Amino acid sequence: DTVDWDPADAGKGEYDHYMLKEIETQPTALSNTIEGRIEDGDVAFEDLPPGSFDGIESVQFVACGTSYHAAMYGGQLMREAGVRADVLRASEYESTSGPVDETTLVVAVTQSGETADTLDAVRKAAARGARTLAVTNVVGSTAAREADDAVYIRAGPEVGVAATKTYSSQAVTLALLTQRIAGDVPDATPVADRSAMLQALENLPQHVEAVLETVRAETLAREMFDSNSYFFIGHGLGHSVALEGALKFKEITYEHAEGFAAGELKHGPLALVTEETPVFAIATGGDDDDKTKTNAIEAQSRGAPIVAVGPDEQPLVDIADAHLSVPETHPVWAGLLANVQLQLLSYYAAKQLDRPIDKPRNLAKSVTVE
Ligand code: G6P
Repeated sequence: DTVDWDPADAGKGEYDHYMLKEIETQPTALSNTIEGRIEDGDVAFEDLPPGSFDGIESVQFVACGTSYHAAMYGGQLMREAGVRADVLRASEYESTSGPVDETTLVVAVTQSGETADTLDAVRKAAARGARTLAVTNVVGSTAAREADDAVYIRAGPEVGVAATKTYSSQAVTLALLTQRIAGDVPDATPVADRSAMLQALENLPQHVEAVLETVRAETLAREMFDSNSYFFIGHGLGHSVALEGALKFKEITYEHAEGFAAGELKHGPLALVTEETPVFAIATGGDDDDKTKTNAIEAQSRGAPIVAVGPDEQPLVDIADAHLSVPETHPVWAGLLANVQLQLLSYYAAKQLDRPIDKPRNLAKSVTVE
């Protein structure tokens, strides 16, 4: 259940940075992620056939950094499928995990499979009787070896310290996995329009390709690079994308950026909003967009330029000052397309500021200390 890594993938090739290469090769990475995992309109994991999760009643996702944001994506979909699920920061596992036993499935989301905080959380959960599953990119990694089961995201090697393609592949793998798990949990309710969702997933690589052909993120990065601070807001799945957008932005541009649940803006962060603080509002084409629009208007009326990030036909675009467009798709996947636009935005903003994009100061690709 793995994909062999082509040594030719290891170089930067024609790209200025690994990060840009990794952003632009996401269609291929995603095709590999999806390959063989949709069969006859249903989700299939070779090593985890129906019945594999019998006895599981709740799920805890544990992760750090970008993987935590992908885990948030999975956690929301798990709950929407009627399964109790929490998304926990691995470094806070002890104080946040609550009751854990053999009915708990602990899913460690870790690109490298070597993050000390995540490994520590999994070991603690296992010691308390939990069933453990690693969702990782690296075959033979510690997480893959130590967990009861492993699922590979098959994104191929990622060299840039800031995670890009592995986030997309993690989120897709987790979305599929939640449907597989829900199939085994009594009284769970796998999403009603599952076949439409899976069909849209098969088109996701093409849709990412279409996003990569747009140039607005690059021009916007040039127009806005001297702002004071950058805010990213969204509801639901859009919230996790907002957090990831802000993390990417701060990691490689060294500019101040924050992500918020859109509704929280008025409970504090609004005090920071001025004409100098662009607000990127994530739309998914789902029911949450009207609320995000209301919250964006609150910031706009304090002078902030609003950038809508999402499909064309949605309410936010009408009020926005600029728009990073993504193709129409199922609301479950729209956030991932919005995230690709935000990856491009961060990349071009960092380039404009002449930052060392692939190796940001103070950060490591994999943090093996607690
Ligand atoms: C480091 C990296 C982040 C990454 C996090 C978790 O902090 O700089 O980009 O998201 O570790 O890494 P993992 O390998 O567990 O996904």
